[in-house]
Amino acid sequence: MKRILVTGSAGQIGSELTMFLREKYGNENVVAGIHRTQPSEKLKESGPFETVDCRNSSALAATVEKFKINVIYHLAAVLSATGEKNPQLAWEVNINGLYNVLEIAREKNCSVFVPSSIAAFGPETPKDKTPQDTIQRATTMYGVTKVAGELLSDYYHKRFGVDTRGLRYPGIISYETLPGGGTTDYAVEIFYEAIKTGKYTCFLKPDTTLDMMYMPDCLKATVEVMEADSSKLEHRNAFNVTAFSVNPDLLTSEIKKHIPSFKVSYEIDEVKQAIADSWPNSLDDSAAKKEWNWKPDYDLPAMVNDMIEKLSIKLKK
Ligand code: SER
Repeated sequence: MKRILVTGSAGQIGSELTMFLREKYGNENVVAGIHRTQPSEKLKESGPFETVDCRNSSALAATVEKFKINVIYHLAAVLSATGEKNPQLAWEVNINGLYNVLEIAREKNCSVFVPSSIAAFGPETPKDKTPQDTIQRATTMYGVTKVAGELLSDYYHKRFGVDTRGLRYPGIISYETLPGGGTTDYAVEIFYEAIKTGKYTCFLKPDTTLDMMYMPDCLKATVEVMEADSSKLEHRNAFNVTAFSVNPDLLTSEIKKHIPSFKVSYEIDEVKQAIADSWPNSLDDSAAKKEWNWKPDYDLPAMVNDMIEKLSIKLKK
């Protein structure tokens, strides 16, 4: 039986992944690991939760022991823009935290999901249809920790037999919990402002093209890679995954089909723009398709349609 710990359980992905896993594997079998972000009542009431700082290895080990955990979805992380403001903290959480998780997984025989990102690529990486295996000279601290995290996770698999698997997430769009401190956050904020005020000031240039994915596909990909037949995996850490490639201009046009009066202006944040400019325009996710049958359900119009519908209901409450 799977006994799962999700670190970063109150975050953008963690909050929805925890509920998704609870539905699939049983509420009691999924422990919400929370730290700085306050969890929702729904998260606290639907199953066990524990305060977990991944930088504290003995507390982490005690949680794994207490709940007899055998699978860890390690989502606790500092994102790209916060990472540039505080690179030391990004290293501590993203690298020391991951190291602690992998060490505990080695000792207690847990499998581990390790998220990577489009940020694991850099300016020298081919920008379009970025291959699975290519140049990874990341230039942000977040990206550096993601490249190192991919290598460390592969190392723990090869050297110690720990079942580590990961995805290179694109920007994730969702309406449940706001992202915090990322460069792709504009693609979530734009929906809130479109519905609430009918206007949005974007911090990235209109033609900044990046890969994105809607939350239901993110949840599906995360669980599918963990459930995949290990004998079919040539790669592990981490698979390129994507659903569509989009820029602020294109996203605005798509939103305008639903809210014709929507207006976007631009005030460029130089730090975030430089981060985005160092990342690919689009990923080639054929390895994920081949090795574990990855296929997204939402293209750009389907995502925008669902996002506007669900977020409008949420904001009316
Ligand atoms: N969404 C993340 C960020 O913008 C990328 O992994 O930091």
